[in-house]
Amino acid sequence: MDHITVIGSGTMGSGIAHSFIQHGFEVTLVDLSKENLVKAQTRIETNLDRQVKKELLDLEQKTAALSRLNTSTDIAHSVANSDLVIEAVSENLSVKEQIMRAVDKASPSSCIIASNTSSLSITTLAAFTNRPEKVIGMHFMNPVPVMRLVEIIKGHKTSPQTLKIIVELTEKLNKVPLVASDYPGFVANRVLLPMINEAIEALFQGVADVQTIDEIMKLGMGHPMGPLRLADFIGLDVCLSILNVLYEGFGKDKYAASPLLKNLVASGNLGVKTKKGFYDYSIDLKNPSPLEF
Ligand SMILES: NC(=O)c1ccc[n+]([C@@H]2O[C@H](COP(=O)([O-])OP(=O)(O)OC[C@H]3O[C@@H](n4cnc5c(N)ncnc54)[C@H](O)[C@@H]3O)[C@@H](O)[C@H]2O)c1
Repeated sequence: MDHITVIGSGTMGSGIAHSFIQHGFEVTLVDLSKENLVKAQTRIETNLDRQVKKELLDLEQKTAALSRLNTSTDIAHSVANSDLVIEAVSENLSVKEQIMRAVDKASPSSCIIASNTSSLSITTLAAFTNRPEKVIGMHFMNPVPVMRLVEIIKGHKTSPQTLKIIVELTEKLNKVPLVASDYPGFVANRVLLPMINEAIEALFQGVADVQTIDEIMKLGMGHPMGPLRLADFIGLDVCLSILNVLYEGFGKDKYAASPLLKNLVASGNLGVKTKKGFYDYSIDLKNPSPLEF
């Protein structure tokens, strides 16, 4: 793995690029505009500085890591010599289809194509290429430089050889690869989202208020963050779209999104990113006040 291309330089793409450059890999980060790429570079540098402050890295290592980062707005040119391409573009099937086709066309036939999708089928994404055996899911967790899990998803046609290469590569990032098959929500979101949805239903039915539900799950289950606050951080629109994937994929009522979640999304209250979800973040992000429903 000499050269890695990461497509999409948002929250996840910049974090993925950060982890690779920190561990000695050359990375080209690709996005639609130079402006997005400058923002991503700044985010990566700020996060590397934080690691230096915490003495996880020294200044020399930070400088060396940054020297391994290249950026580009030209997908075809960037992937032409890549051994691995990881797509982390927006969670939209038609955008991902366009990326899979473009990468398949322009990259060497030996190149592995990984997707960081949270919920789309790896088998469907693989079918947009002529190399489904070399397509795999690498589901990194947010924030990528901090979280050690990478959920590795085997598509229907992913070869054992591709799986082995990606598992070994993930370990080189000092992360823990855990392998799941390609079914809706894989494991992480299949377990997490119904729990979040149930917390929203409990709120909707007036069983308890926002803060009480979150405190019960924190103190009782040892969760570092309550499910409603976590939903605000993930983004309520993202939660809804993952629940819809589970509902459509399994055809079971237990995955039907709470009407309260649907209303919040329809009214534009998407959580931290819009400053309002189950909590109000407009005054203090660290100590938001719970909203009443
Ligand atoms: N945010 C999370 O917590 C999280 C966690 C795990 C997985 N994911 C998945 O990671 C992926 C990215 O999510 P994100 O939160 O980083 O999104 P984001 O919106 O922060 O970033 C997406 C980036 O993709 C770029 N992009 C869109 N179309 C493009 C194209 N055609 N070519 C190049 N760049 C393009 C956008 O400009 C943007 O910078 C999604 O599939 C998401 O489901 C997200």
